[in-house]
Amino acid sequence: MHPKDSILYVLRKSQAFLKDNGIESSRLDAELLLSEVLNFNRVKLYTHFEYKLTEEQKDNYRKLLKERAKKVPIAYLTKKKNFYNSTFYVDPSVLIPRPETEELVEWVLKDTPSIEEYTVLDLCTGSGCLGISLKRERPNWILHFSDLSMEALEVCKKNYFSIIEDDSFNNFYISDLFDSIPIKKFNLITINPPYIPSTEKELLSAGVYEYEPHLALFLDHHEEFLTKLIKNLDNYIEDTGNLFMEIHPDWEPILKKIVLQSNKHIVFKKDYSNKIRMAKISNELTQ
Ligand SMILES: C[S@@+](CC[C@H](N)C(=O)[O-])C[C@H]1O[C@@H](n2cnc3c(N)ncnc32)[C@H](O)[C@@H]1O
Repeated sequence: MHPKDSILYVLRKSQAFLKDNGIESSRLDAELLLSEVLNFNRVKLYTHFEYKLTEEQKDNYRKLLKERAKKVPIAYLTKKKNFYNSTFYVDPSVLIPRPETEELVEWVLKDTPSIEEYTVLDLCTGSGCLGISLKRERPNWILHFSDLSMEALEVCKKNYFSIIEDDSFNNFYISDLFDSIPIKKFNLITINPPYIPSTEKELLSAGVYEYEPHLALFLDHHEEFLTKLIKNLDNYIEDTGNLFMEIHPDWEPILKKIVLQSNKHIVFKKDYSNKIRMAKISNELTQ
């Protein structure tokens, strides 16, 4: 029998509590939250099953478990999310970075092996996960970040300063798409815009609708949004430049139409679950 304050005992109890509250990943979540409270990694939890929690640690853990039982996403409770090669600070003003977006990072890097001094604009940047991951892989690239939400842009700044470790950097813009971005031709533009129609809100996983920012999730007038994005592209992209974007699979026909009307080229790419999820738009015909 393990003492009531030990890691092993507390983990068993909290796993059962989360499970009873409908949390599918109850064991993992119990471990992640306990790791956070104790500042132990998960391996250390397993090698210290007999460790006894203090009253303060038990209180802090209890608070987090109660929040998790209400379906608050684990990343908002731990205030972090691993994405590509970095750990990003996240809070409820930004979307929690998703694995599909890592696939977009991979595609951009594979398609753009250049280590030249490219200028890159990451629109709808949120936590900055897309642009900052590119900067880590291509240190010579000069990044610019923009978002309509001031709170989200503050999170992006925080991540840039901690991950890239350059706090003199100041290429951040609050902007509705290109509206407030000084006219400048970029070699690359990336964007993961909001793309869920509000009619699909019932399909979202537990906690997403309640806790993630609706400005980051929902878009109802996507044709208008995409037209504004593509029509403005000529002012912001080099002739040889590319725009890489994450999209809703249903956008394929309308996006193709808008791109062709603007005399540009488009290539679509599927994600690992075989859904059309990404697009590359260029002035020149490329693959
Ligand atoms: C789907 S999230 C993407 C965040 C991040 N790039 C990522 O991949 O995790 C979309 C972001 O676009 C921002 N946004 C929504 N509408 C916008 C607009 N019209 N112009 C600029 N940013 C917008 C939201 O605030 C949110 O941060």
